Amino acid sequence: MAYPQLLQPLALRSLAARNRLWLPPMCMYSVTAEDGVVTDWHVVHYGSRAQGGFGTIIVEASAVTPEGRLSPNDLGLWDDAQVAGHRRIVEAIHAGGALAGVQLGHGGRKAGTPPWRPAVEGARSGTLPGWNLVAPSAAAYPEHATPRALTTTEIADTVQAFADAARRAVAAGYDVIELHGAHGYLIHQFLSPLSNTRTDAYGGSAEGRRRFALETAQAVREAIGEEKVLDIRLSATDWAEGGLTGDDTAELARQLVAVGVDVLHVSTGGNVPAKVPVGPGYQVPFAGQVKHAVAGMTTPGGGQPQVVAVGLIDSGLQAEQILVAGLADAVATGRGALRDPYLPVRWAHELGVNDWQAAHLPVQYWRGAWR
Ligand SMILES: Cc1cc2nc3c(=O)[nH]c(=O)nc-3n(C[C@H](O)[C@H](O)[C@H](O)COP(=O)(O)O)c2cc1C
Repeated sequence: MAYPQLLQPLALRSLAARNRLWLPPMCMYSVTAEDGVVTDWHVVHYGSRAQGGFGTIIVEASAVTPEGRLSPNDLGLWDDAQVAGHRRIVEAIHAGGALAGVQLGHGGRKAGTPPWRPAVEGARSGTLPGWNLVAPSAAAYPEHATPRALTTTEIADTVQAFADAARRAVAAGYDVIELHGAHGYLIHQFLSPLSNTRTDAYGGSAEGRRRFALETAQAVREAIGEEKVLDIRLSATDWAEGGLTGDDTAELARQLVAVGVDVLHVSTGGNVPAKVPVGPGYQVPFAGQVKHAVAGMTTPGGGQPQVVAVGLIDSGLQAEQILVAGLADAVATGRGALRDPYLPVRWAHELGVNDWQAAHLPVQYWRGAWR
């Protein structure tokens, strides 16, 4: 039997992921020491998902500066002292047979909120007192403190902070470096006319608003060298009048590929409160649009740009259909993997794969496989 596309390897520069299923970045808010350093929780959590059969695992948003953390309990990569912990995660992921990636982030005007863990801390509730919020423009996200607009010198420093964090990610052994350009965080804040009202070179037009994202991608590509995979997560649409659209994102995607981005991880929303038509695969058409836009392009690394679809993709059949229809090269599934680390094995089984080796069920667990 020919294996489903979901189980086909995914070529990423000189690397190959064993299948086309990604674990998307999901903050665990578990750094109780508030120093950005990896804990045992992270090592076990990510190692388990690698043992569970994911092909590529993207570790949660890790901040490039302390004030860029989304909460005090986020991971960081702003300090060399944080590299050793990330190396432990990478080793656990590699031991499970997956490629290891990390998302580099800066929350901008949405930074500095308490964690959100249902029934533990309760709902998120705005900016913590004393947190230094920065953003493209001095416009607050609802129920958050008003940020200070970054100066052009500070913008250059922030680009450098992304590049330095990326260098640390490489030192930790990550294969994939993902920039967080989605969900209303700093890069997205620059891209969207709804959060960027600057009139200097970093605003004023689509070209100006894209400058920070493109400079960051370029600086990070230079920092990580030719071997590593550069990925960016984008919110394809703001779902709001006057905001970013799929067409804007399709054009941006082409520009990002031209400066060295290999993978476009297509999400939506988060920059302004909006009515989002949440439903099965509701973001997939945007992945399809981006894939269409970059089709035929060659990355400077010599490969094809790859597109990852995400958002309520909740079954093996649904994932396979997205790949077969050519809407994406890989799919990511997040909350399902919080419920079940072995979701990839389950999906392979659902698609008719009863060969546990092909499904990447650890041999130690074969005695417990479905009967
Ligand atoms: C607990 C949790 C934490 C998340 N943290 C991040 C994050 O750090 N970076 C990010 O880009 N998206 C984050 N997300 C969004 C997920 O990566 C994903 O896009 C979203 O959950 C939709 O996919 P799903 O329907 O498969 O869960 C988070 C989602 C959850 C549930």
